[in-house]
Amino acid sequence: MATATSVVQMDPKVSGYVGKTHKMLINGKWVDAASGKTFPTYNPATGEVLSNIAEGDKEDINRAVKAARAAFETGAWSKISHSDRSRMIWKLADLLEQHLEEFAQLESLDNGKALKVARAADVPLAIDHFRYYAGWATKIEGNTIPFSGAPQGKFFAYTSREPIGVVGQIIPWNFPLLMAAWKLAPALAAGCTIVLKPAEQTPLTALRLGELVQEAGFPDGVVNIIPGYGETAGAALAAHDDVDKVAFTGSTEVGKLIVHAAAGNLKKVSLELGGKSPNIVFDDADVEATIPGAASAIFFNQGQTCCAGSRLFIQKDIFDKVVEGISEKASKIRVRQGFDPDCDMGPLVSEEQLNRVVGYMDSGKKEGARATVGGSREGTKGYFVKPTVLVDTTDKMKVVREEIFGPVVTASPFNSIDEIAAKANDTVYGLAAGIWTKDIKKAHALAAKIKAGTVWINCYNVFDATMPFGGYKQSGWGREMGHEVLKNYTEVKSVCAAL
Ligand code: NAI
Ligand code: MG
Repeated sequence: MATATSVVQMDPKVSGYVGKTHKMLINGKWVDAASGKTFPTYNPATGEVLSNIAEGDKEDINRAVKAARAAFETGAWSKISHSDRSRMIWKLADLLEQHLEEFAQLESLDNGKALKVARAADVPLAIDHFRYYAGWATKIEGNTIPFSGAPQGKFFAYTSREPIGVVGQIIPWNFPLLMAAWKLAPALAAGCTIVLKPAEQTPLTALRLGELVQEAGFPDGVVNIIPGYGETAGAALAAHDDVDKVAFTGSTEVGKLIVHAAAGNLKKVSLELGGKSPNIVFDDADVEATIPGAASAIFFNQGQTCCAGSRLFIQKDIFDKVVEGISEKASKIRVRQGFDPDCDMGPLVSEEQLNRVVGYMDSGKKEGARATVGGSREGTKGYFVKPTVLVDTTDKMKVVREEIFGPVVTASPFNSIDEIAAKANDTVYGLAAGIWTKDIKKAHALAAKIKAGTVWINCYNVFDATMPFGGYKQSGWGREMGHEVLKNYTEVKSVCAAL
């Protein structure tokens, strides 16, 4: 790994922020953990401690849920005018925009990702998300229902959509601020109150966002933020009897634990889980556009993206050319610390992820796969790995079947469109897929056969607040984004009056 000669200067607000020990946000106040314990968050580029954070557990979750319940029942948020709700969410977006650079730097430090990526993607997308749902706050409607089995005029029936209540939200570390926005924005628009648990690896931007929530003027207890570990704070939130709904993004394994934990009070559950998404390249694709597109489909965010295009299927006539092109792209990716202006790819988020990803690289090689590029750790300090392309794989290999969540793609050839849908669907997951071809008819015909929540045609990893996102099969329950997500945070009430 090349050492940076010059790196971006840290914003003094950011150095001040990371230098502090952080508390948790309960009922509008920053407080220590009931236990008094703290835990460290690390800088993945160096492995050094970045900040210490109050370590929430069951007792803190109890306090936060109590605050969220009280805030919900007073109606200080759920019953105010929709316009006021909208304005406050918009104000939060404005504040975030004013602090864009600060948030981008914090995100890069805590997660490892390139600062330029956090500036261009994570923070602007989070801002847009709040703005989009600020708009929805005034547009959540019910229907009037024309009866089918009674004479007209005998009954008047309508539906309304009410906020679901107190919501527990558990988020991962790959896009810490953006995941907080995906969760908070629609729940706030719907009128819910919230207990948010950020990932233990990356709590900083969610906590800083909590300060902006206060500055924007949200009533106390509407947004509570409890950093802590999954097995303690996360599990307590998922199991809490006074939480009406839990929304989770993370591993499929933990998603299943959430379902069990939620069974006690049958709280509603939505899950956005893992993936092993097929990325399919036909021989009539625009190869010049496909090669960078398919490379970025897997290497973006160090491959730590639930929808990463991690299984590449390339039609056999162009297999060698495309693999060569992507491998060459991979070899040119500059793996650096996030604050280096030349950084294309930062470190993985943690030592655990480093070991997991290197473990998969080794397992692939052991089972007979060949790395055309990469295949190992990068350097000895920090959690860097080399972008990797694996060929000579079989359908049975772990690297083909399991989510790696690192910059590792498997590439295999296919013969024709007739066999490709079955290959693409040969996975327990169903989050996303990519199709590259100039034949748009063929692309849409294949899109219809793929069991995945999102299909990208001649593009990949394109996100917009308007476009629903979520999984078939073991990639999850329900959808986030668009107007679909509002179903996650509302109950439908049918009201019927005899006339
Ligand atoms: P994880 O699923 O353990 O962590 C995600 C969140 O769940 C974190 O906030 C964590 O504290 C919380 N959590 C963990 N155990 C919990 C429990 N028992 N009850 C409630 N909450 C709990 O994921 P982890 O261990 O960080 O990463 C492991 C693998 O998960 C990755 O290699 C990747 O394959 C997958 N993953 C998928 C993500 C996605 O966006 N779909 C995001 C992060 C990880
Ligand atoms: Mg960290």
